[in-house]
Amino acid sequence: MPEQSMQAAWIADPIGGDFSIRVGDTKAPAPRDDGFLVAVEAVGLTFAEPTWATNGTLPLPDGSKRPLPVIIGHEFAGRVAFAGANTSGFAVGDPVFGLIDFWRNGAAAELASVLPGEIARMPDGVTSVDACTLPIGALTAWQALFDHARLAKGETVLIHGGAGAVGAFAIQIARDAGARVVATVKGKDAVSLCLALGAEHAIDTDVERFEDVAGAVDVVFDTVGHDLLERSWAFLPRGGRLVTISGEAEDAPSPERAAALGIEAYWFIVKPDPGQLGQIVAMVADGRIVVQIDREYPLSEAPRAFMEANDRPRRGKTVLVVRE
Ligand SMILES: NC(=O)c1ccc[n+]([C@@H]2O[C@H](COP(=O)([O-])OP(=O)(O)OC[C@H]3O[C@@H](n4cnc5c(N)ncnc54)[C@H](OP(=O)(O)O)[C@@H]3O)[C@@H](O)[C@H]2O)c1
Repeated sequence: MPEQSMQAAWIADPIGGDFSIRVGDTKAPAPRDDGFLVAVEAVGLTFAEPTWATNGTLPLPDGSKRPLPVIIGHEFAGRVAFAGANTSGFAVGDPVFGLIDFWRNGAAAELASVLPGEIARMPDGVTSVDACTLPIGALTAWQALFDHARLAKGETVLIHGGAGAVGAFAIQIARDAGARVVATVKGKDAVSLCLALGAEHAIDTDVERFEDVAGAVDVVFDTVGHDLLERSWAFLPRGGRLVTISGEAEDAPSPERAAALGIEAYWFIVKPDPGQLGQIVAMVADGRIVVQIDREYPLSEAPRAFMEANDRPRRGKTVLVVRE
């Protein structure tokens, strides 16, 4: 039987704008006929999450107010604890991982409510700590490179922020697809990490300008924004593709500006896709993708994870462990 109350991590005051993270007891999600409850084992963190519009002041898509608390952590791994009567494909006890829609509560909690189109099976040999990093970290990279940039074998992609949570996956996925990869990073250790992951060249942006050393590129995948994104417009040749995930919808690249330069430019939000997650986790199982874990914290230390995140360089993914 599902628990009545549970430990969870939430945003303290999304409406008032105090984005600090709290951990405490809250009501467990109710079982629903069309979905599953998952006993969460691990959750991937995205440190920008408390500032996302979906977690902040926006009303829900139907115009109603978002119910509090707003639980964080939309990518997760765990085991099915309840399977609704109108679901199929997964039974109680099955190991799963997935991505919960950003308008609903996340999974930094003992129990998470998920829908069938949001989860995939976690294969033997892949840990929940590794699997929980894939539905935002790796799936975002996959959709950027293939669904939006249409990266092809033999092309060159410049990845801004190559040592970050999304960037470290993007390097490996692009290499595996037969592309040449150049990455921008901050710091010597980040240069070494990107080279080890398969980048041909890693550019420390504090030392060199990417325009001077990257060579010709077909695609720019930006995870940093600001100046790096702005300079990428002029750097791409006609026919080039620019994909960014930084910022919010209102920061999305202008189609008019792209058309004037003869390039394509896109901003998007990662969407759950069980088929793509299955392909990605198979690559982890057979060693073609190596998950970079920066740090692990227990759920009870979620506030500390967020406080420390801004004071240190980030290399790969930070994970909250909910159950060992
Ligand atoms: N739209 C979507 O669907 C989607 C999905 C996932 C993430 N995102 C967004 O994408 C962004 C990246 O996410 P993430 O989880 O990968 O973040 P992350 O782990 O913090 O990675 C960002 C990386 O960029 C590096 N960086 C920062 N400034 C740089 C510069 N000037 N030159 C080179 N590298 C630089 C950072 O290095 P240091 O740590 O050393 O500063 C870090 O390694 C966030 O804004 C996040 O909200 C969007």
